[in-house]
Amino acid sequence: MKMRSAVLAVFVATLVATMLQAQVAESPIPRVVKKDGRFALFVDDAPYLMLGAQVHNSSSWPAMLPKVWPAMEYLNVNTVEMPIYWEQFEPQPGQYDYTTIDTLLTEARQHHVHLVLLWFGTWKNGSQHYMPEWMKLDTLRYPHMVDRNGEAVDSPSPHSAASLEADKKAFTAFMRHLKETDPQRTVLMVQVENEAGAWGSVRDFSPAAQKLFEAPVPPEILSAMWVKTSSPSPNWQEAFGPDADEYFHAWAVAKYIGQVAAAGKAVYPLPMYANAALRDPFNPGPPGQPGAPGCYESGGPTDNVLAIWKAAAPALDVLAPDDYQNDPASYLKVLELYHRDDNALFVPETGGADNARFFFSALGLQTIGFSPFGLDHSHRAGDRSLNQADASRPPEEFLTPWAMNYRLVGPMQREIARFNFEGKLQAVAEEQGKVVQTMPFGSWDAVVSFGAARNNRGAGSPKPAGRALVAQLNDNQFLVAGYFCRVDFRPAGTEQQRKSQHILEGTQQNPSALIDGKWQHRQFLLVEEGIYENGAFKSIRIWNGDETDWGLDFGGEPVVLRVSLATY
Ligand code: DGJ
Repeated sequence: MKMRSAVLAVFVATLVATMLQAQVAESPIPRVVKKDGRFALFVDDAPYLMLGAQVHNSSSWPAMLPKVWPAMEYLNVNTVEMPIYWEQFEPQPGQYDYTTIDTLLTEARQHHVHLVLLWFGTWKNGSQHYMPEWMKLDTLRYPHMVDRNGEAVDSPSPHSAASLEADKKAFTAFMRHLKETDPQRTVLMVQVENEAGAWGSVRDFSPAAQKLFEAPVPPEILSAMWVKTSSPSPNWQEAFGPDADEYFHAWAVAKYIGQVAAAGKAVYPLPMYANAALRDPFNPGPPGQPGAPGCYESGGPTDNVLAIWKAAAPALDVLAPDDYQNDPASYLKVLELYHRDDNALFVPETGGADNARFFFSALGLQTIGFSPFGLDHSHRAGDRSLNQADASRPPEEFLTPWAMNYRLVGPMQREIARFNFEGKLQAVAEEQGKVVQTMPFGSWDAVVSFGAARNNRGAGSPKPAGRALVAQLNDNQFLVAGYFCRVDFRPAGTEQQRKSQHILEGTQQNPSALIDGKWQHRQFLLVEEGIYENGAFKSIRIWNGDETDWGLDFGGEPVVLRVSLATY
């Protein structure tokens, strides 16, 4: 009997061990993939759309997590961005404390979300405030930058070999630990540093920096910036004139961060990115001004130096804008500037609840992820890290505009990511004064109007909040979703007919077009409201009559439609 129970015990133990092993079976490593000029973040070997939120700077501490998870649940995120603090991670040189990382991994898994970890290393908002104390107290070995007058600046020198080595070592230890403890790929990406660069001085003017400034510009930077000078190997001043100081600093910071990223990737090649404190996309100010108070941070991946960063830090997969622009035109311009042939759009920080609708604009530019900042419940009245309008809003009101996006897109995020990767999706957000926006899809135009009453085509909303996405499922079938807008479809003719420009828009109730002298009117064959479940569209009900007579109206509830069209 004893023997039998001993055998049983061994069998159960083996079974449990096998089950545990199975639970942590290694998943494919996440990667950023480019195909046919479009990017996707691949997770488990398929396109993934990061529906993210970033916690406050001091909210990754284990004791703060109870304030984080309820907000994340309310927001319906699938990914949370959380800092890892160098000072916490390496309290003494070479002694690593993994407790915070391990807690984040465990709790994220319990809450069924992925993580993006932010390495608050040498730079955090242009300063070295998260460096360990033993470094802060040794400013000779780990120096600050100095300004033109030789004064120390609250920003680390990118020319310090000792700081670089220390950061590389710590970051590598962090990445090695992730590799060992995260076979299930809870962590999807790592941000290397945070808003690197400098406030208070355009560059480092230390003797070491000055020597490099007067030396020839590396050839890869000259070709990245399309520089042609009479001298075959110009120095920075000769190559870049009034922009020389800023470009030099961008190169120095990018090179440093590129080396930190490469060292980390050598042990565990997760996708990595750097985020930018932006300059005004329309009026950045005169050259030579960055770093000055009231201007912008110098040296980070601002829109004017993206090519320098790409050349100097090839280990980074993405350069990403922290889009806090208040003015809608500037907000949208930033998205355009970072959506490039050599760069996937990823918005790792954004803010201002009134900007929530621009998640759809980012979708329209094939964003791989979007992540508003400071959305845990640890914010205090008057919180200075938030847009002031947000800081005074009660938490629910502050979270809701963002939560609406993810409630709508969450159940079909994989499909949306795939449609985008295949070039089948377009999306728009409402802009003041632009009451109708048209998205061309071959022989159909999707027409989105905002603030539309029954018969008019759009008057705009007093406070723009509209957003819509349309994906082409086949020639005459579309997926449509959105809020506060009306969507309809107008025949657009064949490619040849469109080229001949013999198309006139009709004025009837149903969108119609006079194409080569023949009227074509849109007819809804079938409009199904439904949801995506396990990758398949499940129809709940068919819309007709009042629901379709004036076009397809979207209000404040999450609604997804599959629309089949014909003409008569
Ligand atoms: C941008 C930074 O990257 C974040 O860490 C945080 O400081 C926010 N600004 C606060 O608004």
